[in-house]
Amino acid sequence: MCGIIGHVGNGNALETLLTGLENLEYRGYDSAGIAIQNGSGIELEKRSGEVTELKNAVDRSVLEGCVGIGHTRWSTHGPPTDANAHPHTDEALDVAVVHNGIIENYAELRAWLKSEGYAFTSETDTEVIPHLIQYYLDSGLEGEAAFRSAIADLEGSYAVTAMIAGEQVLYAARKGSPLVVGVEDEEFFLASDVPAFLEYTDSVVFLEDGDVVVVDESGVEFTDLEGNPISREPETVDWDPEQAGKGTYDHFMLKEIYEQPTSLSQAIEGRIDGSNKRICLESFDPGTFTDVESVQLIACGTSYHAALYGAFTLRQAGIQATAVLANEYSVAAPPVDDDTLVIAVTQSGETADTLNALRKATAEGARTLAVTNVVGSTAARMADDTLFIRAGPEIGVAATKTFSSQVVMLTLLAQRISEDRSGDPTTDLESYLPELARTPSAIETILERSDAGTIAERYADSHAYFFIGRGLGYPVALEGALKFKEITYEHAEGFASGELKHGPLALVTPKTPVFAVFVGEEDEKTLKNAAEAQTRGAPVIAVCPAGHEATEIADEHLEIPDTDPDLAGLLANVQLQLLSYHSAELLDRPIDKPRNLAKSVTVE
Ligand code: F6R
Repeated sequence: MCGIIGHVGNGNALETLLTGLENLEYRGYDSAGIAIQNGSGIELEKRSGEVTELKNAVDRSVLEGCVGIGHTRWSTHGPPTDANAHPHTDEALDVAVVHNGIIENYAELRAWLKSEGYAFTSETDTEVIPHLIQYYLDSGLEGEAAFRSAIADLEGSYAVTAMIAGEQVLYAARKGSPLVVGVEDEEFFLASDVPAFLEYTDSVVFLEDGDVVVVDESGVEFTDLEGNPISREPETVDWDPEQAGKGTYDHFMLKEIYEQPTSLSQAIEGRIDGSNKRICLESFDPGTFTDVESVQLIACGTSYHAALYGAFTLRQAGIQATAVLANEYSVAAPPVDDDTLVIAVTQSGETADTLNALRKATAEGARTLAVTNVVGSTAARMADDTLFIRAGPEIGVAATKTFSSQVVMLTLLAQRISEDRSGDPTTDLESYLPELARTPSAIETILERSDAGTIAERYADSHAYFFIGRGLGYPVALEGALKFKEITYEHAEGFASGELKHGPLALVTPKTPVFAVFVGEEDEKTLKNAAEAQTRGAPVIAVCPAGHEATEIADEHLEIPDTDPDLAGLLANVQLQLLSYHSAELLDRPIDKPRNLAKSVTVE
């Protein structure tokens, strides 16, 4: 949610900043801007629209210099206009600032700064920051002290990067929003996320809340808010730059759908001891989960659907488990005690709602575990323990491969918790483990043979799209509908198949295809529910294995290979991802950047 990039080095900053912004566009894409120190002062270009608009607008002879900052925005305060785009500056262009987060006390600060004579030109909360820095400079403070004083006045969440005219320095601070530092010989980067500069360096320092950094050509100085030096060591990230590019695919989303055989193999690698039929989870020694009495999974959006999937497999393994929307958890969390394990499921590890729920669970005394994709993310650092899903960078705003990897991670974890509590590998593992090992090739088969494109075309003029499923098919139906509405902008809803007759059936017409997911649990009931919709004229598309009895009644079917019931939903979901993708393509939607959305939602 909003992408920040900063550069200090020998070469010209402009192209590095523009490329960085393109790599960060998944975080927001309604306006973009750049500010560069060009020797005589700060030069600025910003405008509403995507980074391409900015790229076409910049005057390369003016925006020339080695130190600069850039921003791609997802609006919170003020619509996406040129004036509201970042960087924000003071009136004389002596200070330029990019910001991600929300300044909660901006109204008071703005009123006070106005009364001191500072003129505002935007509706954003961010604009108070350059004026505050300018206020402290006007009061006689030097650059670093002025920056620190301004930061001390802010309430809310921020990742801020600032520069002051005439100084070849970047100042940055972090509280509640992500900020990382990239280090490469004599070149330094500041960014909201690693893909921004991955093609230049894989050596990264993940800043913590309360960190303030000063970057110049001699290096990076890490301090706390009071200015005391702190130690922060770079980590090497093992994502390669090609993973963060689109390659030969038209869209990141399609690339990421096709990456699932690989990303799932990575998620599984080293985590199955085939000979002993045991699950090995890194630092978790056998018996780690013996005392776990109940599990709560907290997550949002697609990750919530993975959490529902995980809760279901945990309950099947005899463990009390519930998935709760993270944004609801803070309102009324189920009770926890020290035998409760709270699992935060979050691809980015930065979702504000999920982090708040995690904070609450920690405060209540629960043991916490993060299931995330991003090393160094806030969730990974906040939770007692972390399991990484190892999906590689996901750039498309619509989550695809990370959902699959979260599901696999959670099903492995469910088996492992059950094994620890009972002292024995569960009997389920005999069927589950070999099928899990075959899942990457089962997905390859789907990707090679899917008819999703044809089905998308056949139902392209429908009025609404419904998705139903039972048991583990239910979170898949929800996820199928979320993906569909997110990237096609068409009305799509997911229901537990048994619920259709309790209300939603009133919406069913010949223009509302019903996609029914069959995962091998009480399929005969789902079949009856699908038939009830079909009787009312709705076309039914079954997502099921070849030869399944659903193929006899359904109008069409999308085929999945036969597998263990714990994994069938995962395979069905791949077909539904392809369906959404092809439907959005037919409608010519901006698939990787759906309107109004952004990846990594760092506001509540
Ligand atoms: C939908 C999607 C979102 C995210 C949600 C949580 O395709 O990607 O619904 O799943 O914003 O994000 P994370 O997993 O980063 O916490």
